[in-house]
Amino acid sequence: TAARLVLGIESSCDETGVALVRTEPGGAPRLLAHALHSQIDMHQAYGGVVPELASRDHIRRVVPLARQVLAEAQVALPEVDLIAYTQGPGLAGALLVGAGVACALGVALERPLLGVHHLEGHLLSPFLSADPPEFPFVALLVSGGHTQLMRVDGVGRYALLGETVDDAAGEAFDKSAKLMGLPYPGGPHLSRLAEGGRTDAFELPRPMLHSGNLDFSFAGLKTAVRTHLVRLGWLDQPEALAAPEHRATLVDLAASAQAAIVEVLVKKSLAALKQTGLKRIVVAGGVGANRLLREQLNQACQRRGVRVHYPELHLCTDNGAMIALAAAMRLQAGLAEPQRAATFEVKPR
Ligand code: KG4
Ligand code: ZN
Repeated sequence: TAARLVLGIESSCDETGVALVRTEPGGAPRLLAHALHSQIDMHQAYGGVVPELASRDHIRRVVPLARQVLAEAQVALPEVDLIAYTQGPGLAGALLVGAGVACALGVALERPLLGVHHLEGHLLSPFLSADPPEFPFVALLVSGGHTQLMRVDGVGRYALLGETVDDAAGEAFDKSAKLMGLPYPGGPHLSRLAEGGRTDAFELPRPMLHSGNLDFSFAGLKTAVRTHLVRLGWLDQPEALAAPEHRATLVDLAASAQAAIVEVLVKKSLAALKQTGLKRIVVAGGVGANRLLREQLNQACQRRGVRVHYPELHLCTDNGAMIALAAAMRLQAGLAEPQRAATFEVKPR
């Protein structure tokens, strides 16, 4: 089988990503180029993603990004063999932009389309790192919308071991951060604020830590953070939250919240490794960029002879490379059923 070129488009939420991946006969797919535009600055003023604004901005960005990627890879558009797009989950309007552009390209070039599950993109993203994993492995998927543990036996062979029953881990970071007056998206901001803080300064719940299964619950954490802020008299008080004399206390609260989330993620990951007997774990999704999570998971796994794999830091959050890669790996595994270009479908849920 000859090498094939896959163009991937991601537009499920607030990042527009485009990438070119080449499948190598008998080898791992290779990333030729990728480009990304983050809408974070645009949504920051609203404290969260505004779906309509997200869709409009994807429309503005996607073609210039595609041009950039093709130029960087020195590939002419007609050389592309397959066009992959994020099919879901995500914001319907935002997804439709990537799918619509993919479809237009497919019609114009007479090339097939492949819709990719956003989480499969995250899950497979460590295969683009310098230290790619081997199957089988446990996967901890931690993003703004999902928190799942999976057993992964190969491309397309995924078994759900456990997941959150309410908020996702990223949501727990973001909602706690918002209560503390930090900008959107709160995860990285809360993590930065937490540096040097005392992790035991505030009592916070570790829900379902001893539930005996591999499910998670994070909604109670946000409520507990809120309760602490009410007791301090700082809830919805931007001036109090920004006051320099209160900073040390907020640093402690951030450190305590982060420690609670990370402890649950690490303990459940270890339980999943124990249950499956596997000696390899992949961490993917935006929260996988969290430094404390990486430190604690690395430490715990080292002691147990477990290998931990991460995507490269810049591929932890949403990007087009993981979508092109997932499509390429599906294609190589003989799992892809590319669509004729005149039809496309998005699955927001
Ligand atoms: O995977 P992702 O980019 O988008 C989704 O598919 O949801 O993940 C975004 C999430 C957000 O909740 C963000 O706050 C969180 O990942 N995040 C972090 C860090 N970087 C991103 N959370 C904690 N620490 C970080 N360093
Ligand atoms: Zn994502």
